Amino acid sequence: MSKSTIGVIGLGVMGSSLSLNIAEKGFALSVYNRTEQGEAHVLSDFLKRTDESMNIKGFTELKNFVDSLERPRKILIMIKAGNAIDGVIEAMLPFLSEGDILIDGGNSHYLATNRRVTYLKNEKINFVGCGVSGGEEGARRGPSIMPGGTKDSYAKIAPVLEAIAAKDNHGKTCCTYVGEEGSGHFIKMVHNGIEYAEMQLLAEIYALLSVTKTNDDIAQIFSEWNKTDISSYLLEITIDILQKKENGESVLDTILDKAGNKGTGSWSTKAAFDLGAINTMMSSSVFARYISSFKDQRKQLSKKLKKGPSHEVTVDTSVLKNAYRFARVVNHHQGFELMKLASKEFHWHLNLSEIARIWTNGCIIRSEFMETSINIFKHNDNYIEDATILELLMSSEEAIKKSISYSLSNRVAFDAFWSAYNYWIAITTERLPANLIQAQRDYFGAHTYQKVNDPEGQFFHTKWY
Ligand code: 6PG
Repeated sequence: MSKSTIGVIGLGVMGSSLSLNIAEKGFALSVYNRTEQGEAHVLSDFLKRTDESMNIKGFTELKNFVDSLERPRKILIMIKAGNAIDGVIEAMLPFLSEGDILIDGGNSHYLATNRRVTYLKNEKINFVGCGVSGGEEGARRGPSIMPGGTKDSYAKIAPVLEAIAAKDNHGKTCCTYVGEEGSGHFIKMVHNGIEYAEMQLLAEIYALLSVTKTNDDIAQIFSEWNKTDISSYLLEITIDILQKKENGESVLDTILDKAGNKGTGSWSTKAAFDLGAINTMMSSSVFARYISSFKDQRKQLSKKLKKGPSHEVTVDTSVLKNAYRFARVVNHHQGFELMKLASKEFHWHLNLSEIARIWTNGCIIRSEFMETSINIFKHNDNYIEDATILELLMSSEEAIKKSISYSLSNRVAFDAFWSAYNYWIAITTERLPANLIQAQRDYFGAHTYQKVNDPEGQFFHTKWY
């Protein structure tokens, strides 16, 4: 029996879509799905979706699946992140051979990926932590793919991954070698963090505009915006969502206002804390989701609130648009700075321009601004170093101030915009009140402080009492 080029484990939404994508590109493919835990039908259901032109073999026995692959084996694991990954690795290990390559295509934590890389290296197996973005449709038609691991492993899996990925504006594949260890999963995590803040900014604008406008009105405004430099996939789908009706009723209006999450946003925030990076926009967006989940409490308190006279203030949407542009720049800036710090810490040598490039298509945060970002990182170390971006931020300051004041007048929670503006104020302020923090630390804990105008940077302690 001829051997397959690659195998996929897990035929859930993402696994099955990627499998069809791989098979459609002409690769001989083996797929495996477990039969336990109510999944006896999964493999046969998947095979019904394939056609005769596809060279696919299905398995429910891991050993047979592994044996069906050409060596070195290339196995894409598409199962839920967490302990299940370790479980499937352990179950497969006895059947694997030196040099085989396991690719984890889920949203695994980068530290778990680092650990698996080291563990499997001892077993002489290569482990590739691979970010995949684009949801079901992306996986099927062309996702953005972010593989980390050794360069040698990448060279062996590249023909398949590069063939199934989306294409950028110049026809190049939206898949690139990211770096060693968990770097692929790290950048996918940051991608999701940026995604959280991009979504939250749109949600806050929707909340503000909803005070005086219908969903259709807002869709109209967003459609105009989407024809300009601030166009993005997330803006595009938001327009569709605002317009969607069932039985004459807006679907959006029927959706309970409790936002879920699967953890990557809070992972990005925790990573920023660990690395000393500033990511106030991602964290405020995570907290906005958490606050939304306290629905009962919100409901009770909102009833207790004394309703004063209405303070509705009509919003100038061109001002809001400038504020949105400003906040998106800060969001991307914080996300890319986070990747830069991680790159330094872990010696990953991340290429930010190339990361921006593979995020211009296939992924959830693809946008016109991501296109611009490719060039910015070819010439600068960060967004703010770019003269055009700096000018944009400076000239949008009035707009963001005004938009925040609209939110106050209308009593609309606007934390992501606040975070963007506060960051900008602080990062452009020469003297912050951190001198007082240092004095307080020294007062109660003798933590010492440095002095202004002391080139030596020595540490002093004062007897405060
Ligand atoms: C993507 C998405 C994808 C998924 C997230 C959503 O890039 O395709 O980011 O990974 O939609 O898991 O995360 P939450 O459930 O936390 O919003």
